[in-house]
Amino acid sequence: MKQYSLKKRVLVTGGAGFLGSHLCERLLADGCDVLCVDNFFTGARRNIEHLLDNRAFELMRHDVTFPLYVEVDEIYNLACPASPIHYQFDPVQTTKTSVMGAINMLGLAKRTKAKILQASTSEVYGDPTIHPQPESYWGNVNPIGTRSCYDEGKRCAETLFFDYHRQHNLAIRVVRIFNTYGPRMHPNDGRVVSNFIVQALRGNDITIYGDGTQTRSFCYVTDLVDAMARMMNNGANFVGPVNIGNPGEFTMLQLAESVIRLTGSKSKLVFQPLPSDDPKQRQPNIELARAKLGWQPTIALEEGLKKTIEYFRTSPGA
Ligand SMILES: NC(=O)c1ccc[n+]([C@@H]2O[C@H](COP(=O)([O-])OP(=O)(O)OC[C@H]3O[C@@H](n4cnc5c(N)ncnc54)[C@H](O)[C@@H]3O)[C@@H](O)[C@H]2O)c1
Repeated sequence: MKQYSLKKRVLVTGGAGFLGSHLCERLLADGCDVLCVDNFFTGARRNIEHLLDNRAFELMRHDVTFPLYVEVDEIYNLACPASPIHYQFDPVQTTKTSVMGAINMLGLAKRTKAKILQASTSEVYGDPTIHPQPESYWGNVNPIGTRSCYDEGKRCAETLFFDYHRQHNLAIRVVRIFNTYGPRMHPNDGRVVSNFIVQALRGNDITIYGDGTQTRSFCYVTDLVDAMARMMNNGANFVGPVNIGNPGEFTMLQLAESVIRLTGSKSKLVFQPLPSDDPKQRQPNIELARAKLGWQPTIALEEGLKKTIEYFRTSPGA
């Protein structure tokens, strides 16, 4: 008699990226079969190399702007360049990845009756006029700026998710991810935590944009991945959108000082003008995640920075 696997088959798009690779690890540890799909635009084989011998793991090179025909039970849609340097490199492709990628993955979910989670972003709030931002805030987004390909692409993807939910009764989940950091971040993509760490480890000047008083909140990657898994598996059919991040707020100056202290670096701070549309403050309100998912971050910035610094110290090429 033919044997069918009872293991959950989970597709992770963007699975060879920073967040995706940690999510693949977590899903394998949870006993799932994982199909990692990536076009390697910003992802890297080295991020998932340690998983290739695992028989429950499969890697497929594919661009989500094209339809995908596979059989799966759940889809985590993470494919999209996430840092300004990468998403502004080919802005048209960025919008295509968000919008056509969402359409293709939602179509796949519809055909296979899979549950599907969208990795949305705090950038849907744009340059917010209220702090911290609850999910009910509609945002303050410039539709024609240089960040718009990402912000508006992600907003349109959310629209598509909710329309597929209303129109086709799809089981969707939408998480709005705030700044997340950890091992396997790109070393040179302009994101502040990796920037500061790499500059400090090389003994280079640490670049602060503006006067360094703008604030960000930073969530450690394993906390984020845990929230995504809880969101996918919540039995109450809570679809979101839900903010996921760490509400602890730090100025860029505080972050730079912590990195210098933890690396023991002699780097100096240098100041450069703020890029256009750069938000002054960004802090998640995570009350909904606490209430609906019983989730809150557990890794303090200092602990997460130590692990991230260790990664950049020891990874050749990173
Ligand atoms: N890291 C954060 O702080 C953060 C914050 C908010 C939202 N997000 C979202 O989380 C997701 C993952 O972000 P990340 O930080 O891991 O970035 P990342 O760049 O490391 O990962 C994105 C992955 O998607 C792949 N990809 C890009 N375009 C693709 C395409 N057309 N087809 C197939 N694969 C494609 C890349 O090669 C890469 O592996 C993104 O959707 C991003 O918008 C991340």
